[in-house]
Amino acid sequence: MKKIQMVDLVSQYEEIQEEVGRAISDVIRSSAFINGPDVKAFQEELEEYLGVRHVIPCGNGTDALQIAMMALDLKPGDEVITSDFTFVATAEVIGLLQLVPVLVDVDPDTFNIDPEAIRAAITDKTKAIVPVHLFGQSAPMEEILKIAKEHDLYVIEDNAQAIGADYTFGDGKTGKAGTLGHVGTTSFFPSKNLGAYGDGGALFTNDDALAARIRSIANHGSTERYYHDHIGVNSRLDSIQAAVLRIKLRRLKEYSARRRQTADFYDAAFAGIPQLKTPVRFERSTHEFHQYTLQVGDGLRDALRAHLAEHDIPSMIYYPVPLHLQKAYKDDRYNAGDFPVTEALCDTVLSLPMQTELDREQLEHITETVKSFFNSPNK
Ligand SMILES: Cc1ncc(COP(=O)(O)O)c(C=O)c1O
Repeated sequence: MKKIQMVDLVSQYEEIQEEVGRAISDVIRSSAFINGPDVKAFQEELEEYLGVRHVIPCGNGTDALQIAMMALDLKPGDEVITSDFTFVATAEVIGLLQLVPVLVDVDPDTFNIDPEAIRAAITDKTKAIVPVHLFGQSAPMEEILKIAKEHDLYVIEDNAQAIGADYTFGDGKTGKAGTLGHVGTTSFFPSKNLGAYGDGGALFTNDDALAARIRSIANHGSTERYYHDHIGVNSRLDSIQAAVLRIKLRRLKEYSARRRQTADFYDAAFAGIPQLKTPVRFERSTHEFHQYTLQVGDGLRDALRAHLAEHDIPSMIYYPVPLHLQKAYKDDRYNAGDFPVTEALCDTVLSLPMQTELDREQLEHITETVKSFFNSPNK
C-alpha cells in the first residue's frame, strides 16, 4: 500500500507532470517571472470560475487579508469581529494593523462563526466582520450580510479553505463563497484545495473602485510607476505559480468531487460509532472538504490519534488552541471558558487524511483502523 499522507502532492503532480513541466519551462524561457501573461490569464480564468468581477492575485493568503483591511481604510482602534476558531492569520493581520480583534464563538456543527455571537459583539467601534469559511463550507453568509447591512459594516470573507464552495440564499440564488461580501481573500498554499507549488493568494471583489485600490496597495500604493498614492505593500503572485494554478484550476471541480467521494466513504464507515460525530453538511453550502474533521467524544481523541499513528496513519488537530487562549492574543477582555464551543472543539476535533489521491486500499486501512479502535474491549 502507498504510504498514507494528510496531503499527497506528489501523486497529484504525477497526473499533471508533463503539462506542469511545459508550463514552467515556458515561463522560464519567456523570463516573464513577475506579472507575466500567466498571471493575467489565471486572474481572468479565476474571475470566470468564481463569477466575480475582479480577482487580484497577491503573495499569500495572509497578505490578502492585510491588503483587504488596508484597502477598506480601517484605522487603528477599529474593531473587527472574527472567529475564535480559525488559523491565526485571520487575527494576526487585524493585530498587525493595530485594529482590535473581537473574537466570537462558532457553531458546533459547522465550525463556522455564529451570527448571534456576532450580533452580541457589535459596539460603536465595530467596522468589519471577517467570517472564515472553515474546512470547506461557507459560513452563514445571508445572516452575516444582513447584520452587516443593519450596522453598516464591511464583510471580508476569509476563503482560504473553501474555494469553489457554492452558497445558496433563502430565495434560491447562489454565489461562490468569497464573492458575497465586500471583499474575499484566499490562499494558494500548496496544501489548499487550489494549491500552488509555493506561496500565493488572491482577493476577490465586485466593487470596481475597491479593486483599483487593492491593486494599487498590493503594488506599493502605486498605479503609475514611481508615483505612490497610498502606503502599500509588495505582494505578488509570481508567474510560475500562476502557470501551475491555471493547470490545477482546470481540474478543481474534479478534485472537489474526489474529496467528496472520500468524505462519503468516511461518513458511511463511521456511521455506527456513537463516539464519533462526522462533519455536518450545512444545507446552504456545498462542502469542498478542505478538511474532513471528526469530533471525538468520551475524551478519546488523543488515544485515537495515537492508535492511528501506530498504524502509519497521519491525522491533525486543526486547531489545538482557541485564539483567545494563544499567548500572542491573550487579552484582559478574555478568559478561559468565554467561548465554550471553540474550547470544546479544540479538545475533540481530529482531521483525517483528505486529498485527491487516496485509493480504496488506503481508505479501507484508515476506516478499519478507526473501527478497530472503537471495537477494542475498553472503549
Ligand atoms: C483560514 C486561513 N486564513 C488565512 C490563511 C493564510 O494563508 P497563507 O498561508 O497563504 O498566508 C490560511 C492558510 O494557511 C487559512 O487557513
